Amino acid sequence: MHEEIKKACKIISDTKKLTVLTGAGISAESGIPTFRGPGGLWQKYNVAELATPEAFKKDPKLVWEFYNWRRELISKAKCNPAHKALAKLEEKIPKFCLITQNIDGLHRKAGNRNIIELHGNIWWVRCTRCSFLKEDRRVPLPFPPLCPNCQNLLRPHVVWFGEPLDLDILNLAIREAETAETFLIIGTSATVQPAASLIWLAKEKGAFLIEINPEPSEATPIVDIYLKGKAGEILPKLI
Ligand code: OAD
Repeated sequence: MHEEIKKACKIISDTKKLTVLTGAGISAESGIPTFRGPGGLWQKYNVAELATPEAFKKDPKLVWEFYNWRRELISKAKCNPAHKALAKLEEKIPKFCLITQNIDGLHRKAGNRNIIELHGNIWWVRCTRCSFLKEDRRVPLPFPPLCPNCQNLLRPHVVWFGEPLDLDILNLAIREAETAETFLIIGTSATVQPAASLIWLAKEKGAFLIEINPEPSEATPIVDIYLKGKAGEILPKLI
C-alpha cells in the first residue's frame, strides 16, 4: 500500500492536467451520510418518495422537510482533511478540475474554485415555473418557499432521479474527463449515470486512473491504482 501511495504521489505531482471526480464518500468523514451501503440515506428513506419530481408534485412539504433536514446537517458539517487536500492540489497543479456529484458545497468552502457540480447545490433554490434561481442559506427554509417573481413554489436546485443533468454542465464535465492526463476518483460507488460514465470516458481517452475508496466500486476493475482506505486519511498523504 505504501508503495502504491508513493507511485500515485509521483504520477499526480508530474501531471499537467488532473481531473477529479468525487462522490458522497468524501463528505462521509464530515458526518454527511452516503446514499448506498450501511448507514446510507437510501436505507432509511425511500428514494421514490423524496428525490423524484413525482414525489415533489405529490407532497412538496414532505420533500422540503427532507431537504431542510439535510440543509441543517450540512450547515453544521466542517470540511475534512480530504476536502482541504484537494484545495491544496488545485493550487499546485497547472490544470485542475474538480467534478463533484455532491450537493453539499463543501469543496468550495474548502477553497477549490474550478468545480463542476453535476447534481446541483443544496444551498440554491429555483422556481418550478419561471427562471428564478438564487442562493438561499436559511435553515430551515420556511414552507412553502415562494418565487418572488411569480409566487409559484420554489424547489431545491438539485438533480432528482429521472431528471436530466444540465446539458452545459454535463458537456463541460465530459470535456474535462476527455482531456485529463490523470483522473482521480474519490468516494463514489460509480453506479449513477451519467456521472459514472465519465470514468470510462477518461480511461478510453488514455487517462491514468487512481481511485480512493475503502470499498471497491464499480470502477475499481478498470483503475490503474486502487488506494483502499478513507479519503481523509489517504488524500493528505498524496499531497
Ligand atoms: P454512494 O452512496 O453511492 O457511494 C458512496 C461511496 O463512498 C461508496 O463507494 C463508499 O465505499 C465510499 N466511502 C464511504 N466512506 C468513505 C470515505 N471515508 N472515504 C472515501 N470513500 C468513502 O454515493 P455516490 O457515488 O456519490 O445523486 O452516489 C452518486 C449519486 O447517487 C449521488 O450524487 C446522488 C445519489 O442518488 C443524486 O442525488 C442525483
